[in-house]
Amino acid sequence: MRVTILTSEAVPFAKTGGLGDVASALPKAIRAVSDVDASLVLPLYEQTNRALLREQLFDNLEVEWAGDIRRAAVWYSEATAAPTFLIDAPEYFARASVYGFRDDHERFAFFCRAALALQRRLGPPPDVVHVNDWPGGFAAAELRARRSFDDYYAHTRTLFSIHNLAYQGAFDPASLARLGFAYGEVHDAFLFEGAASALKAGLMLSDALSTVSRRYSYEIQTPQQGYGLDWLLRMRRDRLIGVTNGVDYDVWNPATDPHIAAHFSADDLAGKLECKRDLLRRFSLPEDLDRPIIAIISRLVAQKGYDLIQQAAGRMLETGAFFIALGAGAREYEDFLQVLRDHAPHRVGIYKGYAGEPLAHQIEAGADIFLMPSLYEPCGLNQMYSMRYGTVPVVRATGGLDDTVENFDRARGTGNGFKFQAYTADALLGSIYEALYCYAEPEVWRAIQLNGMRADNSWQAAARKYVELYRAVAQM
Ligand code: ADP
Ligand code: GLC
Repeated sequence: MRVTILTSEAVPFAKTGGLGDVASALPKAIRAVSDVDASLVLPLYEQTNRALLREQLFDNLEVEWAGDIRRAAVWYSEATAAPTFLIDAPEYFARASVYGFRDDHERFAFFCRAALALQRRLGPPPDVVHVNDWPGGFAAAELRARRSFDDYYAHTRTLFSIHNLAYQGAFDPASLARLGFAYGEVHDAFLFEGAASALKAGLMLSDALSTVSRRYSYEIQTPQQGYGLDWLLRMRRDRLIGVTNGVDYDVWNPATDPHIAAHFSADDLAGKLECKRDLLRRFSLPEDLDRPIIAIISRLVAQKGYDLIQQAAGRMLETGAFFIALGAGAREYEDFLQVLRDHAPHRVGIYKGYAGEPLAHQIEAGADIFLMPSLYEPCGLNQMYSMRYGTVPVVRATGGLDDTVENFDRARGTGNGFKFQAYTADALLGSIYEALYCYAEPEVWRAIQLNGMRADNSWQAAARKYVELYRAVAQM
């Protein structure tokens, strides 16, 4: 069976968030647990390190585009365990960032069309095209349209994975004709609340839908978390499944991590203290190793619960803990972090911007407590990374956070983190206080750390579920 995975980001080529980690780990895991021939296609961005590319496969891939033919180049890479093809179209992708341009709809529509055109040049059609988030909606739409007139794609089926329902790829419906979706069922599938939505088209026109945790698969069927599309997800619920993301332990493993100051594991935690010292130095904080470090790494957007962090920050610092934050995003939150740092320079460390992999690993390794007070969280990866690094997560019980973190139960000694329900600063602080009480008792803390470090969140189980899903989708 051949599966082609389309993504807008994948480590180590380009990453803005968790999709980058997942898109790179999943095909590798699928190949490890099955004989499915999984390959990856993504755009070649300006930020992509050219040393990762092996060769240019084509310099003349013809793409039908706006009533004309455009040519794109295609590069091949074996930088990950799955064959990867990168679409080189500088007018769309040689830009300073991955997303955030007025013509994003056009950029990713072109990417999808080129990725589908590429398959013909490579050989027999894929059995399943697996697309991710709104940029993949264009591929789902095109494949649905082609099913009726294009023999090559007559038997190819589509799986659409929702990593975040809030990003909908909205644009002016007047552009639909230019993108090649001028009429019929496919055109109408884009229409949503007066705009065109690549996400809605993908959700309507794909053969099957998945999302990145079980809990989120139910939440998005409610008006509270459906972002206007809950009706559609309820309508298609027999085609919707939640598969919780895994962790690539080749990449996120404190016993082998090349980015951290000292190695450690559940059997020998000594190196973690060295990582803590290193982290404090990196942020120019005093080397006060008894003081707990509370950390957060996230995109600075409302989703991540930064409103709560803002409200709780003062009282959190009063506990005596260090606070270290890494994040890029909204100006409002960047300013807040700066003010906090200026107010308590010996207790707060900040890095504003996208730091790449090393610093994220160093924070996971050196911190004691990791915050994820998310308003919503489709899956969340950092809580699982934290656990492996003996860093105890404090999370709100939503989406994948609820599925992967178990509240610590002192009497039974079970649980790997602290979980609160209400989206309030008081609830967040309640969990932080609880975590700090436990931190003050080294044996109790050790037990929580070990529960987390020994949890198995590897991709294996998830990859098997995807393989099952691919087989089912291919039969639809
Ligand atoms: P999301 O995909 O919603 O951003 P996830 O928890 O799934 O959330 O994944 C976030 C990923 O992005 C993690 O690998 C995290 O370390 C990384 N990350 C987030 N912000 C930054 C940043 N400013 N610098 C470096 N890495 C970051
Ligand atoms: C999205 C979600 C995040 C998830 C990631 C990977 O960016 O916000 O919760 O972990 O995708 O699936």
